[in-house]
Amino acid sequence: MRALVITRHGGPEVLQVREMADPQPGARQVLVRVRAAGLNFAEIMARQGLYLDAPKPPCVVGYEASGVVEQVGSEVTEFQIGDRVIAMIQFGSHAELIAAAVDEVLPMPANMSFEQAAALPVNYLTAYHMLHRVAHVRSGQRLLIHSAAGGVGIAVIQLCQAVGGVELFGTASAGKHAYLREIGLDHPIDYRTEDYVDAVRTLTNGQGVDIVLDPLGGKDWRKGYRLLRPAGHLCAYGFSNNTSGDGTRSLLRVLGQMAQVPLWNSISLMNENRAVSGVNMGHLWGEKAMLREELMALLGLFAAGKIAPKIDSTFPFDQAADAHRRIESRGSIGKVLLVP
Ligand SMILES: NC(=O)c1ccc[n+]([C@@H]2O[C@H](COP(=O)([O-])OP(=O)(O)OC[C@H]3O[C@@H](n4cnc5c(N)ncnc54)[C@H](OP(=O)(O)O)[C@@H]3O)[C@@H](O)[C@H]2O)c1
Repeated sequence: MRALVITRHGGPEVLQVREMADPQPGARQVLVRVRAAGLNFAEIMARQGLYLDAPKPPCVVGYEASGVVEQVGSEVTEFQIGDRVIAMIQFGSHAELIAAAVDEVLPMPANMSFEQAAALPVNYLTAYHMLHRVAHVRSGQRLLIHSAAGGVGIAVIQLCQAVGGVELFGTASAGKHAYLREIGLDHPIDYRTEDYVDAVRTLTNGQGVDIVLDPLGGKDWRKGYRLLRPAGHLCAYGFSNNTSGDGTRSLLRVLGQMAQVPLWNSISLMNENRAVSGVNMGHLWGEKAMLREELMALLGLFAAGKIAPKIDSTFPFDQAADAHRRIESRGSIGKVLLVP
């Protein structure tokens, strides 16, 4: 099979399509021929050498894919050859074939495209988990989401629309604001030209928001915390600030960002009536039942027409460097996909 390999840490040019041995499914695994695979910010960081969970290069990364079952293991009764499936695996989905355990695979709804199926797992699970299991979003609340036009950001907006009555604030580059308004973001803020803290304070008459979802990290976690109303909740779920625009790793930048990470103590949290939580879906891999329950809820919302992944662009494996550049250039709106 062909697979997309990160040959070493560096810019997009380190990506290579290589011929590799086909994976052999174990007794409780299925072999899936990949039709589309999601590209996530984590994989950009993995290529740059900034994602500690990633395997050492040369490696094949990728957490999610959609495709067709080509072979089933000797003890598999849940799936048959020819089934269209969504798969979540811990690395390796950027390949023509993947072997996935039966509890890492779900049947695809009949009216879902392969592109939509590959765009759903990581972005929507992260958004759903933060909103419903961690921050318990409710109607009447105000919520701030950063990178609002990214895969997770759009999922958050759609899921809040499904709740109804959530006033949404979001940061994004100015060119993305029209689309964001269209899908229900009440207050798009161009963080490049204005301080989002000032903007949120002005828009809320100084009150701030109930929930901040922050994938930026470093000093932004501190800023988000200060924007919380009493009983407010900051959820930290990423560290985009560690990446630089030129596609390579800058240790100086990483150290500068790390130095600005706020350290909270329980006494100040108590006295300020605020909560801080963290979400890393990659570290929830052992919680199969929890993740499955959340994925099933998402498929229910898809069936009800409440959510629909927005595809930004689709790149063949041999143009994967352009797919990575698409995300790094901050131009994408929604999901960037890879197709074998
Ligand atoms: N904890 C978890 O389990 C988990 C799961 C999924 C994603 N995440 C994190 O959530 C964040 C967003 O993920 P996503 O999949 O939604 O990303 P995405 O779709 O690739 O979003 C990319 C957008 O993020 C914004 N951005 C902000 N800082 C950036 C930077 N330093 N470099 C490039 N773009 C930057 C840019 O938009 P604007 O400039 O327009 O804002 C860019 O277009 C990432 O930090 C990712 O690691 C965490």
